[in-house]
This record gives sequence, structure tokens and C-alpha cells, in this order.
Amino acid sequence: MAPFKQGAFFVRELDQIHAFLGCETPSEWIEAALQNQAILLIDHAHCEKKAASTAMRLMFRYVERIDLLNKMSRLAREELIHFEQVLDIMQRRGVVYDHLSPSRYAQGLRQFVRTSEPGHLIDVLIIGAFIEARSCERFAKLAPYLDEELAKFYRSLLKSEARHYQDYLGLAETYAGEPIDERIEFFRQQEVELIQREDDCFRFHSGPLASVASPVSPA
Ligand SMILES: [Fe+2]
Ligand SMILES: [Fe+2]
Repeated sequence: MAPFKQGAFFVRELDQIHAFLGCETPSEWIEAALQNQAILLIDHAHCEKKAASTAMRLMFRYVERIDLLNKMSRLAREELIHFEQVLDIMQRRGVVYDHLSPSRYAQGLRQFVRTSEPGHLIDVLIIGAFIEARSCERFAKLAPYLDEELAKFYRSLLKSEARHYQDYLGLAETYAGEPIDERIEFFRQQEVELIQREDDCFRFHSGPLASVASPVSPA
């Protein structure tokens, strides 16, 4: 596997995230992102809003779990701040916010969530960890190719997304009460498949597109 590209920021957190994920974002996805920057921003805004919504859903369903309530409350607030920040950048760039069909990614993972407890909660938390980890990895990998403003913004998101990944994983380990390595490995393989398999439309969490082939170099 090619080495991950890293800046001088949050190297330890990024190392953990790279070790957690089963693969690096393909360079074909970076190329597609650069060619679809308006969609990148619009879908990113939707992702931040959905991340807040997922955290709120957990808060409504598991009211007896104080640690979860505190961590998800803070996470939801941070995701909504990220949402406002993306909206602000979009407005300044003349990118109009609109509805967008979701990528196959989240549903591709959630289809495997168990229906009975505590399996349901553990699976949702593990998937949350993967989504946060992948977002963090993508922000870090994409930043060197972006203009200064967007690169700075994406780098500013790394630290909170890395902590969100740790929060989700820590809650999953705490509430499972037994080793969850096998379940994590199961979702790791599903996630790799979604990240590496050819996709038909570009989104923040899409796979590489069939129509993009040329490799890119950092700006
Ligand atoms: Fe976020
Ligand atoms: Fe996050």
C-alpha cells in the first residue's frame, strides 16, 4: 500500500485513523473531488447535518446512558458548527445549497446493523467511528490539493473529527462489555469495499468514479 500523505498536524491522531481504516482513499477519488468542488461542498454540508442528526437520534434512544448523552451532545453541536462553516464558504463562493441524493456509503454500512440490543447500539457506534475516521482521512488527504482557504478549513476539521472517531469507538467498547474486534473487522471490510469499488456518482464518501483515471499531484 502507498504511504499516507501527512502534514505536520495531528500526526498521532492521523496514524491511529490510518491504522483503523482498511485502506487509503484512492487517488482517483481526489481527482474527482477536484473536478466536482461544488458537489463536494454541498455534500459535505449534508454530511455535517446528518452527523448531527445521527448523534441526536442516539440521544433520544439511549436516554439512560449519561456518557453517550454528553459525548453525542457535544458532537452534535460541533457538527452543526461545521455545517454553518461549510454554508459560509459556499455562500462566499456562490455555491447554492440544494438537495442531493445520498451516496451508497452510509446505507451500505447500516444495512448490516443488528436489530436487537445491545448489538444495534454497538453496530451504530462502530459505523459512526468508521464514518468519522474516513471523513478525517479524506480531509487530510485532500487538503494539499485544495486552494488555501479550503485547505485551511479542512485541516481545521481534522482534530474534532479525530476525536469524534475516538468517542464513537470508546462508547462501543464500553457498552459492548466484551471484545468487539471481530465486529470492527467485519465493518472494516465492508467499508473498504465501499471506498474501493467503482461508483457512478461523486459524493464525499463515494468510491472512485469509472470516468476518472489520471493521477494527481499536490498543488
Ligand atoms: Fe464534522
Ligand atoms: Fe464528526
